[in-house]
Amino acid sequence: MKKFIKLLTASAVLASVAFAADYTIKLSHVVSASTPKGQAADFFAKRVNELTGGKVEVAVFPNAQLYNDDAVMKALKIGNAHIAIPSFSKFTSLVPEIQLFDLPFLFRDTKHLHAVLDSEVGQILKDKVTAKGFVALDYWDAGFKHFSSNKKPIINPEDAAGQKFRIMSSKVLEAQMKAVGGSVQVLPFSEVYSALQQGVVDAAENPLSNFVTKKFNEVQTSLTISEHGYLGYLVIMSERFWKKFPDEYKGKVLQAMKEATEFERKLAAEDDAKLLAQMEEYAKSTGKLTIYKLTPEQKAAWAKAMEGVYPQFYETIGEDLIKKAQAVK
Ligand code: LMR
Repeated sequence: MKKFIKLLTASAVLASVAFAADYTIKLSHVVSASTPKGQAADFFAKRVNELTGGKVEVAVFPNAQLYNDDAVMKALKIGNAHIAIPSFSKFTSLVPEIQLFDLPFLFRDTKHLHAVLDSEVGQILKDKVTAKGFVALDYWDAGFKHFSSNKKPIINPEDAAGQKFRIMSSKVLEAQMKAVGGSVQVLPFSEVYSALQQGVVDAAENPLSNFVTKKFNEVQTSLTISEHGYLGYLVIMSERFWKKFPDEYKGKVLQAMKEATEFERKLAAEDDAKLLAQMEEYAKSTGKLTIYKLTPEQKAAWAKAMEGVYPQFYETIGEDLIKKAQAVK
C-alpha cells in the first residue's frame, strides 16, 4: 500500500512538471505574505491556477523582493512586473487626485469607506489611473492607520510636536503631520523597521496588519489606536502585458481577481480585532509597549487640529471630489 502511495505521489509530481504553465503573471508587493494583501495575492494565484487548469501561473513576490514602492510602477510600464498592489500614496506623482484617500478623518467608518470606493468617486480615480497606461482592477483594504512612537506617546495633537514621522510619499500626509507640529521623512516601507530602530525617525502611522507583521512593536514603545486615516490599495496591471495576454484566459484572471477582492476585504475586516488582541497580549507580557485608545473627545481634537489640511488640497484633489466623497451615504 505504502509503495502504491509513493508511486502515486511520484506520478503527481511528474504530472505537475509535465503540465507546466504556459503563461506566468509576476505579481509584486511590499508587505508580508501573512497580511490580508499578501494572503489575497496568494489566493488569487491559487484561483488563477485552478480556473485555467494550470495553464496560467501567478508568481507572487512579497516583501519588496522584486520591486520596492515606486520602482514597481516603472516595471509595470515596461512589462517587467505584471501586477502590483500599491497603496494610494504610491500613485501621488502619477494621479495626485488619489491622495483623496490620504485625507485625515475622511471616512466615518468602514461602511462609508467601501461605499466611497465603490461609488462614482472610486471610478473617477480608477479612470485617471487607466488614462496613465495601467489597467486599474480592484480596491483592496489594509485598514485604518494608528500612530506609534518610541519618543513620546501620541495621545493629544500636541504630542506630535518635535517628533519625526515616517510617511509614505504623499503631500497630504506631509501636511497632516505638519498641521500638528510633527516633522516628516518619506521612506519606502522596506526601510521603516531599521529607521525606527536606529532613531532616524521617532514615529510612524500604520494599520495593525503592517505594524504587527513587520514587528514594529519591537522598535516602538507606544501604539495609539487613533484611526486617523486609512490605508488602502488599488490593484493595477501592466497595460503592455495585458494587451499581449491571450484572450482565452482574460476572463478567468478577472474572475480570480473578483474572488480575491472579496476574500481580501473580509480578511482585512476580521484581522484587525485579532491583531489588537495580539498586541495587547504582547504589551502585557513584555511591558515593552503601551497601547492607548483615544476617547471620542481626543479623536475630535485630532480631527479639528487636522481640518486645515483639506482646503490646502482643493486644487490638487478637487474640492468637488472631496465633497462628493464626504456626501456618499
Ligand atoms: C507603506 O508604505 O507603509 C504601505 O504602503 C505598505 C503597504 O503596501 O501596505
